[in-house]
Amino acid sequence: MAKNIVMLCLEALTLCHLTFAFEPKPLQDFCVADLTSSARVNGFACKNPMLVQANDFFFSGLNIAGNTSNPVGSKVTPVTVAQLPGLNTLGIAMARVDYEPWGVNPPHVHPRASEIFTVLEGSLLAGFVTSNPENRLITKVLHKGDAFVFPMGLVHFQRNMGYGKAVAIAALSSQNPGIITIANTVFGSNPSIAVEVLAKAFQVDKNIVDQLQSKF
Ligand code: GLV
Ligand code: MN
Repeated sequence: MAKNIVMLCLEALTLCHLTFAFEPKPLQDFCVADLTSSARVNGFACKNPMLVQANDFFFSGLNIAGNTSNPVGSKVTPVTVAQLPGLNTLGIAMARVDYEPWGVNPPHVHPRASEIFTVLEGSLLAGFVTSNPENRLITKVLHKGDAFVFPMGLVHFQRNMGYGKAVAIAALSSQNPGIITIANTVFGSNPSIAVEVLAKAFQVDKNIVDQLQSKF
């Protein structure tokens, strides 16, 4: 039976959304990033395919733990197009995350990627918050071998729930997912957001804002 016009329009809109929500489909086997080119494209210009080597598709070092000696007790080791030029135009990247006991990967957003995350060692509390107005917190304790997804653009975090170290691997749906860490962005911007703005936004005294700004 013929679909009505509203259904067809809705389907067309869904299709458009799907098409535009992802990075451009590659039009050749690969487009290894020429990180030295000054050409301005969405991503990086392609290196001459004749000059491409196996090492352009290679990264070594994800077996090495990141240094977690910092105030939050975690370290992300990224493998994006900046570290692995062969990722250019492919719409994927990954990262290793190390956590000291009770360490936190603080609330953050990837503006260009969803993330699927798997635990290699230890146990982690993983969570994300849905957008306004519900702001529903969705959490799960993950153990070795478990996987969890953080949908694109949502604020998410992890906390090591144990007395030993924890390790996870994240896969992300962009060659350049970006990271916006909420606390650093809001309290550590350059130049600073006016104290009056943050005091009203967070409904706290200005000296609390000063204190937070001094940490980031
Ligand atoms: C974890 O959420 C990460 O982005 O590394
Ligand atoms: Mn993340």
